[in-house]
Amino acid sequence: MDKYKELMDKAKEASKRAYCPYSNFAVGACVLYESGAIYTGCNVENVSYGLSLCAERNAISTALGFGEKTKIKAVAIYSPKQAYCLPCGACRQWLSEFCLDKEQTKIILEDKNKEIVVLTQEEIFPYGFKFNFD
Ligand code: THU
Repeated sequence: MDKYKELMDKAKEASKRAYCPYSNFAVGACVLYESGAIYTGCNVENVSYGLSLCAERNAISTALGFGEKTKIKAVAIYSPKQAYCLPCGACRQWLSEFCLDKEQTKIILEDKNKEIVVLTQEEIFPYGFKFNFD
């Protein structure tokens, strides 16, 4: 649980770096990999609204950019505007691409009482899209 608190604290720090002049809805994400490495990201908006990038995908892109090759063990997400700030559908799909077994990858949130809540990727993204060539 201390580890999850640490991830949440880093997500909070990352949310302070958000570029969100259009929505004024800052988000920070902190992703923990199997390797033990941690990467953070914030949302980055654009005047062409649809081009805005979510905090979670920013963090995951940063991880790959730094050469991360292992799977995601946990991700903490935080917005000062919204307790229990769950990832959007696109970010759930991105998490699905790089998560461990879906029951093992943890989604770390903070509720309105500032308590840590732990969900799994399976709980937030059942029946996700995937394909194989079989
Ligand atoms: N946002 C995120 O960063 N992550 C999500 O999972 C949902 C939404 C951002 C996008 C936009 O900059 C702002 O929150 C309002 O939608």
